[in-house]
Parts: sequence; C-alpha cells; structure tokens
Amino acid sequence: MTRILVIANQKGGVGKTTTALNLGAVLAGQGQRVLLVDLDPQASLTAFLGFDPYRLPRSSYSLLMYDGMTLGRILQTPRTNLALAPGSIDLATAAIKLVQEQHPLTRLRAALRESRMLFDVVLIDTPPGLNVLTVAGFLAAGEVLIPAQCDHLAMLGVRAILDLARRVRDEMGNPGLKVCGVLPTLFDSEAAYAQKTLDDMRALVPVLQTVIPYDTHITDAPHQGKLILDYAPDSPGGAAYRRLADEIRQRE
Ligand SMILES: Nc1ncnc2c1ncn2[C@@H]1O[C@H](COP(=O)(O)OP(=O)(O)O)[C@@H](O)[C@H]1O
Ligand SMILES: [Mg+2]
Repeated sequence: MTRILVIANQKGGVGKTTTALNLGAVLAGQGQRVLLVDLDPQASLTAFLGFDPYRLPRSSYSLLMYDGMTLGRILQTPRTNLALAPGSIDLATAAIKLVQEQHPLTRLRAALRESRMLFDVVLIDTPPGLNVLTVAGFLAAGEVLIPAQCDHLAMLGVRAILDLARRVRDEMGNPGLKVCGVLPTLFDSEAAYAQKTLDDMRALVPVLQTVIPYDTHITDAPHQGKLILDYAPDSPGGAAYRRLADEIRQRE
C-alpha cells in the first residue's frame, strides 16, 4: 500500500518544503520508493532539488488541469528511489482556473491512485495559505503532517489545518483522511517560550515525538546544492530528520 502524506500549514516559513525534501530523501536512502509532489507555485521543492521550474516542460499543473494526465509524463528523478512531480509558477494560474472553471479537485488523487508506478511513500508539499491547491492535496492524501514552529501564533495555523482536515474527511469525500500529527520545527531550545508552547500544543493536539531543531546546517545545505543528509548528516537537523523518518515508518 502506498502511503500518501500531505504536508501543510497555513503559515509559510515553517519548514514544510524542508520537511518534504529531507524526509523524502532519508526515506529514499532507506530503500523506500518515494514520490515528492510539489503543489507550490513558488516551486521551492523543485528548485531545492536542482531543477529550474521555468525550464521544465510539464509540472504538477498538468496533473491538476487535465483528465487522464499520467504521472509518468511529468516525473523527474533527482536521486535513486526519489521521484519528483515538479512545481511551476503555472500552479498560481491553476489555482484560479480550478475555481473559476469549476474543475474537479480530485484529478491529483486519481493520478496518484491510478498510477502504475509503484511508490511506498508520496509526500505532497503545499503552498502556504489555504486554497484549492491545498484542498487538492488533502483530497489525494491518506494522512496530514503539519510542520509548525513553536511560537505564540503556532496554534492558529495548526487549528486551521485540523479544521480543513475534518472538513475534507467529513464533507468533501475523503473519509479515510487521518491526522498524522504536528511536527515541531525550527525549535529553538534557548528560547524560553518554545518549550512551553510545545507543552501546550501537546496537551491540545496530536504532536509527533520527533522535534526538528533550529539548525543553520539546514539553511546552509541548499546553498551548497546539497541535502542535509549529504551536507551534514550528523548535525542536529540531519539526525532529527532521520528520527522523523523512523517515527513515520513506525506509525505505518
Ligand atoms: N530546522 C530548521 N533550522 C533552520 N532553518 C530552517 C529549518 N527548517 C527550515 N529552515 C529554513 O527556513 C526557511 C523556510 O523553510 P521552508 O521549508 O521553505 O518553509 P515553508 O515551506 O513552510 O514555507 C528556509 O530558508 C529553510 O532553509
Ligand atoms: Mg514551502
């Protein structure tokens, strides 16, 4: 069975794309067949993996806009076991057209479920804000993973995502959708409020055991054109993404 996780938070800059990238790369390194789907018009996941989003002939735009578009026609394979359905700026247009022209939001779901290509794990990276691209990701997924920075407004973004997950499950036709949990990211153990925010969050919503620390190796790696697991595998950030991969696999 393919596990499909959508990675979402209404807030930007909380580590969604970093998590898709590094979790995907670690799982691929463990021999899992991984597909990353970039649904963000900013296409940072695609750019992080070394592709120029302006030069790719097709992107996940095609999966959202055309019936019967197959994954095989858009995929790139940046690493062994790691495939990418790239993003592009066109996704901004898709968001408008999907609404105005009343396209179905279930084409991504169909493309993933009907694919003959075999993946163990699919990670869908979504844009910040809650729009139809996020909803298309939620409709396609089996689980929602919510990266969140432990600051005083974190719960707002988390609640919005939990609310969307409930609506997609109960009212929009994806009854099997589960919440995998909140992933604390950019965790600054020196900040007095961070641990308190994390404790408060644990009391209110499902939170994963793994905490991703604030680690400059994570910001530096892309500047070297590398993933954290190649650039600084034993850094706090690199080690945390390995623990996350283990935790996600244990929850299977
Ligand atoms: N754990 C971390 N420690 C330090 N910097 C991080 C960490 N996670 C992400 N970043 C940096 O924060 C910025 C935003 O991360 P990103 O994954 O793009 O967020 P999002 O996709 O939620 O907008 C990026 O520059 C990224 O390199
Ligand atoms: Mg992002």
